[in-house]
Amino acid sequence: MKTVIGLMLFVNLLFSAVIDDYLNTLKVQAQTQNPNFKDFSVKRGNEIFNSKHLGKRGEVISCASCHGEDFTKTSKHYFTGKLIQPLSPKVNPERLSDIKSIEKWLRRNFNDVYKREGTAQEKGDVLYYILSKDK
Ligand code: HEC
Repeated sequence: MKTVIGLMLFVNLLFSAVIDDYLNTLKVQAQTQNPNFKDFSVKRGNEIFNSKHLGKRGEVISCASCHGEDFTKTSKHYFTGKLIQPLSPKVNPERLSDIKSIEKWLRRNFNDVYKREGTAQEKGDVLYYILSKDK
């Protein structure tokens, strides 16, 4: 039992190290791009995630169109109807555990909704928002 708890703590630490690392990188970039930048914001992240925009294939969509609003549940891909595993790292330990994967999906998904890449600040804001739901 102790070993299991120890292992879980260890995995947890590894996980937070990855996302913390990535958020720190984004912070440095955001500061370079905007000298007035202080910190990422859950409120701005909420707006980025839930507001609708003219996106891919002329459809008016938000991030929630594919990921839903409850990050502990599976959701349906807006265009293909395929199931998407929950965004919450709490129920889906593979989430936000690999920087390459996070970057790949954020690049792709910002393009789906905003038809452009997200800025460092926007990426940090939206990650703060996703993580805030696990608290
Ligand atoms: C058209 C559908 C769609 C839209 C819109 C969409 N996503 Fe995704 N997103 C996906 C799919 C598919 C995956 C990968 C699914 C998987 O790993 O199971 C994903 C994965 C992710 C991940 C997980 C990356 C990781 O490595 O853990 C994050 C974070 C994410 N999306 C954020 C966003 C944000 C922010 C927006 C809005 C700017 C957004 N998504 C809009 C389909 C979408």
